[in-house]
Amino acid sequence: MEKIKILFVCLGNICRSPAAEEIMRQLVKREGLSSRIEVDSAGTYGGHAGDLPDPRMRRAARARGYELASRSRRITEDDFREFDLIVVMDDSNYERAYRLAPSPEEADKIRRMTAFCRCHQATYVPDPYYEGARGFELVLDLLEDACSGLLEDLKNGMLRLKR
Ligand code: 4NP
Repeated sequence: MEKIKILFVCLGNICRSPAAEEIMRQLVKREGLSSRIEVDSAGTYGGHAGDLPDPRMRRAARARGYELASRSRRITEDDFREFDLIVVMDDSNYERAYRLAPSPEEADKIRRMTAFCRCHQATYVPDPYYEGARGFELVLDLLEDACSGLLEDLKNGMLRLKR
């Protein structure tokens, strides 16, 4: 069966998108769908390339049972060919990803993370980098909501996926 590949994207790839990646990976595993749905993350800014996620994000995530161990990398044009969905955290990520997309078809793969939220009204996942601990908790709340909505949509075949 075809595999669905999802890339979560934020600015630095050390806070929001690595957390989204791990939350989604756990949900997918719990549903027994690990062989069908693959997840990864990247940032539009490469300044933290090779770094582990931010210690504040790792601490907040660990308290909810998520071990964040990915290494930061910058999104590439090839990611648009490789992945079926490019899920961005905010408008700035959207714009930068859109400009990087090699074709209009590939740009069509971009989605906003908050569009999958069922419980929160947010239109973006706020950058927690310059925020206190509450910023990280809000990020995790939004990501847990959005990841379960995204998985539900995938299970219901509600997402139009190119391939
Ligand atoms: P992220 O958070 O995009 O959720 O990984 C940030 C990480 C680093 C920076 C900004 C946001 N920075 O300016 O270095």
